Amino acid sequence: MNTTATATRVLTGDRPTGPLHLGHYFGTLQNRVRLQQQGAELMLVIADYQVLTDRDVAERLGEHVEGLVLDYLAVGVDPDLSTIFTHSAVPALNQLLLPFLSLVSVAELGRNPTVKDEIAQSRQSAVSGLMFTYPAHQAADILFCKAGLVPVGQDQVPHLEITRTIARRFNDRYGRVFPVPEALLSPAPLLLGTDGNKMSKSRGNAIALRASADETARLIRGAKTDAERRISYDPANRPEVSSLLLLAGLCLDRDPAEVADEIGDGGAAALKRVVTAAVNDYFAPARARRAELAGDLGEVRRILHEGNARANAVADRTLAEVREAMGGLVAAA
Ligand code: TRP
Repeated sequence: MNTTATATRVLTGDRPTGPLHLGHYFGTLQNRVRLQQQGAELMLVIADYQVLTDRDVAERLGEHVEGLVLDYLAVGVDPDLSTIFTHSAVPALNQLLLPFLSLVSVAELGRNPTVKDEIAQSRQSAVSGLMFTYPAHQAADILFCKAGLVPVGQDQVPHLEITRTIARRFNDRYGRVFPVPEALLSPAPLLLGTDGNKMSKSRGNAIALRASADETARLIRGAKTDAERRISYDPANRPEVSSLLLLAGLCLDRDPAEVADEIGDGGAAALKRVVTAAVNDYFAPARARRAELAGDLGEVRRILHEGNARANAVADRTLAEVREAMGGLVAAA
């Protein structure tokens, strides 16, 4: 057993905006399950309040929350070892936001490149206060449980920096309460969506984890490739073909260049047949498990309820420490 991981509390999570896809799986889900198996205590936050950053209303929220729980369980998150919770169900976590906001400046919040990007892409007519401040709320997601390790993609690194700043400043000002967490960047390379852009829930170019075998075949058949008949692994010059080869390689646990050699002059049609078979074989067990669990939503709700209870116990303890450190602030009320 890996002793470093045993001592570590790991927190990460997702916004409940739609089904997780193969990019999520190879980018982070697989890694989370590996950490769980190595003995890390895994906390998964379903960031429901955070859905409201770039839209006015969180649509079909309940369905998306349950969908995320199903996706987690399907890929191997074990609710006996790990905690799945929604941050809106943990009042003490949310209370941390107020002292945390006092520790960052408006200028620092304004410089966050991920937030700037999201503002540029947002369909809202005005930038809400939540859009501007959610990285401080994310710091509460991470620090309420004193996580040491936060597995995330590159786009989340600015948020992690704000979290680290808040932890350091809190400790300097009030005495040490929080560990300063580290980002754990996944080594998995980027998977492109079926249109050749980064695979993303909002772009409509993703293959969902829960997609059926037929749906997967249809999506891959429609994926963008190029006109060259000979298949080769060349990410710089042939990004779409190479991303498909990478996907097949990840599913088959093989070198993508080797997969390319085998397809040879078969062209895009042969490539797509190979990728479809690889994806459908690899995900068949997780998809079957997901379908089975989806038939028992009572159990899914029970798992979430239990996760929320565990997260609340942790958050209550941390908030008590925070109040104590801050000089008994409101603790007597
Ligand atoms: N911002 C993350 C995303 O959009 C989701 C998230 C919320 C998160 N709270 C977190 C990720 C805490 C890691 C740690 O994907």
